[in-house]
Amino acid sequence: MLSIAWIILVSSSLCSSLDNGLARTPPMGWLSWERFRCNTDCVNDPDNCISEQLFQTMTDIVVADGYASVGYEYINIDDCWLEKHRAHDGKLVADRKRFPNGMKALSDYIHSRGLKFGIYEDYGNYTCAGYPGIIGYEEKDADLFAEWNVDYVKLDGCYALPYDMDRGYTNFGRLLNATGKQMVYSCSWPVYQIYAGIQPNYSSIQSHCNLWRNYDDIQDSWASVENIIDYYGNNQDLIAPNAGPGHWNDPDMLIIGNFGLSYEQAKTQFAIWSILAAPLLMSVDLRTIRPQFKHILQNRKIIAVDQDPLGIQGRRIYKHKGIEIWSRPIGPLYQNFYSYAIAFVNRRTDGTPSDISVTLKELGLVNFSGYRVEDLYENVDYGVLYPNTKIKVKVNPSGVVMLKGEVQFPVEL
Ligand code: GLA
Repeated sequence: MLSIAWIILVSSSLCSSLDNGLARTPPMGWLSWERFRCNTDCVNDPDNCISEQLFQTMTDIVVADGYASVGYEYINIDDCWLEKHRAHDGKLVADRKRFPNGMKALSDYIHSRGLKFGIYEDYGNYTCAGYPGIIGYEEKDADLFAEWNVDYVKLDGCYALPYDMDRGYTNFGRLLNATGKQMVYSCSWPVYQIYAGIQPNYSSIQSHCNLWRNYDDIQDSWASVENIIDYYGNNQDLIAPNAGPGHWNDPDMLIIGNFGLSYEQAKTQFAIWSILAAPLLMSVDLRTIRPQFKHILQNRKIIAVDQDPLGIQGRRIYKHKGIEIWSRPIGPLYQNFYSYAIAFVNRRTDGTPSDISVTLKELGLVNFSGYRVEDLYENVDYGVLYPNTKIKVKVNPSGVVMLKGEVQFPVEL
């Protein structure tokens, strides 16, 4: 009897957790919110309103301008795509003027270009911008998303009870899985609980969501990026261990190429997001992005750090007088020695570059056979360096130097 009860328990717990095989590395794509917000005025601002045209245009550019070939694959709608009311049969309806061909047609368009389609909803009575939420219609909405061939669902948490989220978010994840269509599941479950003073149950969150927001919305400023960097650094003991293949912390979108970040600051956001094993969701107008910012977003070496298959989230290992060092263990491995991505960040405002000198050993790179060290932005190869080698980098104000140390194997005699 006991063993039967145990088997039932084990199998039911397996069924209830998310095992969709998706997001083995952090998702990459484009998301409308930070840049295009809830602009619904297609009469006066047809090129920038939330409409099928905007998403089709971004799809075309992601493919044509090389973003898809470096790994960006999801085209994700955020809030404000809906009609204010459901249809008589209870189904969600996309805004009829702004999405005249409906969501299935947009989904088909994105898929026909070889990309994937993401949508936004909210586990509450309303979305954050006041459109219908999923509460009371969970099964219907999950089925509709499957019918539309959705690949990615961001489920926000406005107008919902944070105490109810442990149950509600897991339930919706189960309903998504039950459709048989695999969808990446992006949750806002922890951030709303943290705001409500509830300690999130990260072990449950990581087994039910592919990614989740922990902290504030990103805004178009360096102050906002710094604030997020500090949150992830200050809370890393709680947050970092929850990341791994299939389940990621989400520090929010990349704002590179917009109005608020300088070139140096944009490089810093990209470097730190890759150390954090963050989803890389660009929110920028790809029609007008300046080449230097596009270049950052398409830096294959830094993308490879972000997408490292081991999926270990990095940490801030040093912080003193405005200088920070962030480090992430990555492959290849030699015995129990990892390779590392290292970001040296200058948060100081005295307008001249700061020198940082440190031995590899002090950074935790202690393999006697050494590490091949290269600069991931400057394409400089420093050759093989050893634990006692001192490296010296010059870091611009609000900028970053990012290195990779690839572990070396002993030479066979
Ligand atoms: C919340 C989310 C944002 C965005 C908006 C949309 O603030 O955190 O990412 O989705 O809602 O209204």
